[in-house]
Amino acid sequence: MINKNVEKAINVQIKKEDYSSRLYLQMASWCEVNGLGGAANFLYAQAEEEREHMLKFVHYLNDRGGFAKMMELEQPPFEFKNVIDIFEQVMKHEEYITASINEVYEVTLNEKDYTTGSFLQWFINEQIEEESTMRTILDKINLVGKDKAGYFHIDKELEAMAAARPETNTAAE
Ligand code: FEO
Repeated sequence: MINKNVEKAINVQIKKEDYSSRLYLQMASWCEVNGLGGAANFLYAQAEEEREHMLKFVHYLNDRGGFAKMMELEQPPFEFKNVIDIFEQVMKHEEYITASINEVYEVTLNEKDYTTGSFLQWFINEQIEEESTMRTILDKINLVGKDKAGYFHIDKELEAMAAARPETNTAAE
């Protein structure tokens, strides 16, 4: 049986991954109706990836004798200024998720649940990658310039990045 405090921390993290997926889905939808097809594709894929993260936690918790619960979610914001605004918010959100994963890790250390600690390593590495991807996108946005031509260029880049992503797999692992 998994430790109760670890179970609670994972359930909170499940909620956050679930919210991340909805947040990126909302951003993707905004991009789609605002002529940013590349950014939309990138963010739709990112939303799927967050759902995959959530499922990883769900299966892990249930496999360890816990019970994954779907909690109520707040409505994500749906008004954005432009693609820069969106990716600045994505960056901030990913930093928040990184801090949150570290908090769950701390709970596993306090409770001496080293199995869950080792399970969390995957997420710790994933966060390094996600933050680095988002930083690269923000750097590119700064390079191409914050105007209409720049937005067009960055949308093409995001289209290419979305196409280069490995297929997301939401099935149980
Ligand atoms: Fe599930 Fe983007 O962290």
